[in-house]
Amino acid sequence: MTTPRPETLAKLTPVLTKRWLSPDAWRIGTYEKLDGYAALRKALKAHPDDLIQLIKDSGLRGRGGAGFPTGLKWGFIPQGDGKPHYLVVNADEGEPGTCKDLPLMTHDPHSLVEGVIIASYAIRANRAYIYIRGEAVHAARRLRNAVQEAYAKGYLGRNIQGTGFDLDLVVHSGAGAYICGEETALLDSLEGFRGQPRLRPPFPATHGLYASPTVVNNVGTIASVPYIVLGGADWWKTMGTEKSSGPMIYSLSGRIANPGQFECSMGITLRELIELAGGMQPGHNLRFWTPGGSSTPLLTAEHLDVPLDFEGVAAAGSILGTTATQIFSDQDCPVYATYRWLEFYHHESCGKCTPCREGNYWMVRVYRRILAGQGTHEDLDTLLDTCDNILGRSFCGLGDGATSSVTSSLKYFKQDYLDYIEGRTAPKLSDKQLVGA
Ligand code: NAI
Ligand code: SF4
Repeated sequence: MTTPRPETLAKLTPVLTKRWLSPDAWRIGTYEKLDGYAALRKALKAHPDDLIQLIKDSGLRGRGGAGFPTGLKWGFIPQGDGKPHYLVVNADEGEPGTCKDLPLMTHDPHSLVEGVIIASYAIRANRAYIYIRGEAVHAARRLRNAVQEAYAKGYLGRNIQGTGFDLDLVVHSGAGAYICGEETALLDSLEGFRGQPRLRPPFPATHGLYASPTVVNNVGTIASVPYIVLGGADWWKTMGTEKSSGPMIYSLSGRIANPGQFECSMGITLRELIELAGGMQPGHNLRFWTPGGSSTPLLTAEHLDVPLDFEGVAAAGSILGTTATQIFSDQDCPVYATYRWLEFYHHESCGKCTPCREGNYWMVRVYRRILAGQGTHEDLDTLLDTCDNILGRSFCGLGDGATSSVTSSLKYFKQDYLDYIEGRTAPKLSDKQLVGA
């Protein structure tokens, strides 16, 4: 393991992660000693519209993957419409490689609860939900405990801190379907239906939970809010780039010495992140990586100096996504990695639309054939043609995301496919594994 240079270490900007190493920060007493709920007290003295303006001024963009401007989204909630408003936190983190929200909810759940109260006050919601994925049992326990503690201290419930503002917060565990991380499938699931995406528009901002105006935000987005309220928009913008402000939690996994979460100013490069993580594992050289989970097109060693912000990654032909950088080396096979991701999308496809349901089914079969040494040159055209019929023609982002690693691995690593087809690489799958997709 190599030691990062001081100038690279200085790129760490712990904001959302700053309490993670404090023992017991998940208990309200410790949280309060570490500035906890100070932002809420400050926010409750402000006008809700001023809070929305503050978030707009900070340039905060959604941390769930899409990077939509948070203040703009809050501003879409119609006021004086007589309907109930809802805040729903998307804690259904399920993108392969993504693991930034889970440690946040486990180590610092009150920062999320505090963010929920401030955001609900700003959009005039009296009921909020945190929808957490079913497998995250420990994080859900911590969150429920935090919610109980917040009620006991008068931060939740009726007449919060004597301001007349009421808020109830419910932690709801899903049943472990990846598609329920898609915001409209999540809302259907929360309403008690089978989780399948709804047609957008209308967006949840006007027609969300129970057909009422609803803000759906990621855990990291909402947990950023108390820091912006305390530190101000200008302080937030001292980190990151002009259009991608603030710190970001990058999750590093794969062939690196020290995998984990690294919170840095947006715009850091993978070269610097790998240095922070102690370098590559001995004997491994970087070959390909995902900038933001398996739904984002693969990048290669040529892209080590791409700024990891929304614009920088887009200019390199990929998507910042969930900032889950999965790192693969010269000992890993891009064809096999893509096959494993496709198995995932095929399994998680909700089946509502034909391109994704059928396309992923057939692509898995083609990959099995190639990996069993029985592929043909035409198979590569079939894969590209199938992706062409999924991308932009699917009902939700799951279908589009499934094509990312297929098209990008064919773009950068076509020779690896040809090596299987032309017999230079030994088959990875047996005849028995060809069927049953
Ligand atoms: P999107 O770009 O369609 O929407 C982003 C947000 O902006 C949504 O909340 C949407 O309601 C809102 N929005 C967009 N246009 C709007 C308008 N005109 N009016 C009102 N609201 C509007 O992206 P989507 O499909 O919601 O999310 C895709 C992203 O999710 C991908 O980039 C991927 O990285 C990420 N993702 C994250 C996962 C995780 O585990 N965190 C899992 C899978 C995908
Ligand atoms: Fe369901 Fe896939 Fe269609 Fe999304 S793209 S609605 S997951 S079948």
